[in-house]
Amino acid sequence: MNADRDDLISVRGKTLEVESLIRKIAMDYSPAAFASSFGVEDMLLTDIILGTNAPIEIFSIDTGRLPRETHDLIAKAQTRYGVRIKVYFPRCELIEAYVLENGINAFYDTVELRETCCRIRKVEPLRRALIGKKAWITGLRAEQSRTRGLLRIEDFDEDNGLKKFNPLLNWTEKEVWAYIREKRVPYNALHDRFYPSIGCAPCTRSVTVGEDARSGRWWWEDSTNRECGLHVKGI
Ligand code: ADX
Ligand code: SF4
Repeated sequence: MNADRDDLISVRGKTLEVESLIRKIAMDYSPAAFASSFGVEDMLLTDIILGTNAPIEIFSIDTGRLPRETHDLIAKAQTRYGVRIKVYFPRCELIEAYVLENGINAFYDTVELRETCCRIRKVEPLRRALIGKKAWITGLRAEQSRTRGLLRIEDFDEDNGLKKFNPLLNWTEKEVWAYIREKRVPYNALHDRFYPSIGCAPCTRSVTVGEDARSGRWWWEDSTNRECGLHVKGI
């Protein structure tokens, strides 16, 4: 995606706004943590957060089913930025019981089994990651889906009982890529293979021209409720 001059100008303005929000979060809501999936938005935020030197923990949830390209990027990011990123894993006894009862790829069988898999592989580790935190930060953008269009930059996460910030909410995809290219920020190799949104390997596929960015996630399910429970209540 090529950036034009207007994109670069808007990106500079928006970058200053994000930097100042990050400093405010570090000042007013310490300890705060940034949840990174290592998708392109999260690489942008990582670059900004580390550039500000704000004391904000960066963590990621390794579900045990991530694509190899995501692990490669975690390693690359640690080398580029010289930081260790805290990685949370699911509780093995929950995974063992689920697989024994339902099978190794049971998430394809029913929506309930898919949601249970997301709950034990993603939501439970997220709950642990947020213990003791006053705020968490995400890379959610309004453009990504209709429900995400209703979010706010500064919000309260009722489920987890803490502040939630979505600093990139009003960034366009083009602006995100303009930042990444200008600053030569490393990104997931799958993005160059038509994966705009990347989650677990068995639940993510590439999209074709005209399909929306999240259509490659849980593509076999009804498109109205394709969320994993990290951001949407009830799973
Ligand atoms: S998801 O809910 O469908 O999986 P998505 O991949 O769009 O979410 O990512 C949205 C935001 O959720 C990311 O910017 C990040 O803040 C958080 N997130 C998603 N997956 C993870 C993960 N595995 N570890 C940490 N944060 C994550
Ligand atoms: Fe399980 Fe797929 Fe959810 Fe990953 S995205 S936790 S593999 S159902």
